[in-house]
Amino acid sequence: MSNVKFYGGEQYPVEMHKVRIIQKLTLLPIEDRLKAMEAAGHNTFLLQNADVFLDMLTDSGVNAMSQEQQAAMFRADDAYAGSATFTRLHEKVSEIFGTPYFLPTHQGRAAENILSSVLVRPGTYVPMNYHFTTSKAHVVANGGEVLELIKPEGLEVTSDLPFKGDLDVDALRQLIAEKGADAIAYVRIEAGTNLIGGQPVSLSNMEEVCEVCRTHGIPSVMDASLIADNLYFAKVREPRCADLEIGAIMRAMCDPFDIIYFSARKVGFGRGGGICVRDTAMYQKLRELVPLYEGFLTYGGMSVREMEAITVGLDETLDFDMINQGPIFIDYMVRELERRGVPVVTPPGGLGAHVDARRFLDHLPQTEYPAAALASAVFVASGVRGMERGTMSEQRNADGSEPMAHMELVRLAMPRRVFTLSQVNYAIDRLDWLYQNRRIIGGLKFVEEPEILRFFFGRLAPLTDWPNQLVAKFRADFGDSL
Ligand code: F0G
Repeated sequence: MSNVKFYGGEQYPVEMHKVRIIQKLTLLPIEDRLKAMEAAGHNTFLLQNADVFLDMLTDSGVNAMSQEQQAAMFRADDAYAGSATFTRLHEKVSEIFGTPYFLPTHQGRAAENILSSVLVRPGTYVPMNYHFTTSKAHVVANGGEVLELIKPEGLEVTSDLPFKGDLDVDALRQLIAEKGADAIAYVRIEAGTNLIGGQPVSLSNMEEVCEVCRTHGIPSVMDASLIADNLYFAKVREPRCADLEIGAIMRAMCDPFDIIYFSARKVGFGRGGGICVRDTAMYQKLRELVPLYEGFLTYGGMSVREMEAITVGLDETLDFDMINQGPIFIDYMVRELERRGVPVVTPPGGLGAHVDARRFLDHLPQTEYPAAALASAVFVASGVRGMERGTMSEQRNADGSEPMAHMELVRLAMPRRVFTLSQVNYAIDRLDWLYQNRRIIGGLKFVEEPEILRFFFGRLAPLTDWPNQLVAKFRADFGDSL
């Protein structure tokens, strides 16, 4: 997305790539969309992709690869041990992240499993700017407690603050003073954040957090799964980064951290993950678990083809034209929704557009899962599959009580380089219609509730007949339109 001005003054993003392989899509009639949603227990994770028109569930493992990535997959070196493919990946990771050691894992949460198994002891704390579902689940599974130290502004849905993902460094100092450094397993910075609307973390904040960690001998860990978007935001929003190359911003962000891990389903546009480590003793401790859970040290559960694609994908992450596509499309979608009065998280972040279900459905209490209800209604109204990121994504407390999420969001992820602007415009139009008809939408209740990560498989049912009323209103307004 280069700086292209339109004669008429319009502000449309222009793609700096062309589509050369396509996948045919189907848009089912609304009656069939409702049937599919009912069969899925009003949980978008349980939909069949064949029933989905625009899959905005996630960006994970579904970004469009470049021809260079595809080409690299053909010259993979298929060896269990000592594969040249792994050497290429390791060298690229070291060059970009600036760390000598690299442990491959099959995806991001596998890295979290290893880190938490080694570093978290029962009764210890893991302060972080904000949790991600799997990162918290692994800390908790090892007896630790996650403490979120996001600055209060980070939880304000609408704002014009550039770095709402920043950690409150004073709160971290206070926590260390209260609990003692020994009680802190590690400090985790998610750059950028996932569950609070793809909001970025500033380079200055990362430096400050790591400085506090270093002073107290606490390991500092960066989750770099969403670093591509974060690099873009640093370049355009943090004045000290404006004149730096993307590669230089990357190194400046990574250098202060002891450990960096990532999901290569996001950064690198492949399917895999890994842990980058600086310290030899720490590397040796973490290394023990890779063959146990993942596979040998030269593949860690990844196929050699994916490792080749990730190597090229990581290199391409340093190309500003490549990393700006997601955030610029998201910016367009958020601004257009905002213009139509649809409540969204602002400023626009990375990962996707985040609709504020609490304000959208302000007639529903959080106990009726407004974000899940809205995600269901969005699919019925449009065939667009989003993801609930609210109370349904929380886990019950040990005493069975239900924590209410800070935010009730429906995430409409923007897999990178996948959708066209007219498809995005279609999604905006249907959300506009849904917002005008929001009072029709009612609540949901669990009919099947798994104990761990319940949002993946949980099934819900509507509390009233609202889904059928929504279909009837759609037909009245759109006639025979799909
Ligand atoms: N950390 C962050 C910030 C993530 O967004 C994810 C995954 C992970 C870790 C775990 O990585 O999926 O490779 O095991 N996020 C996906 C999403 C699932 O849809 O947002 P993984």
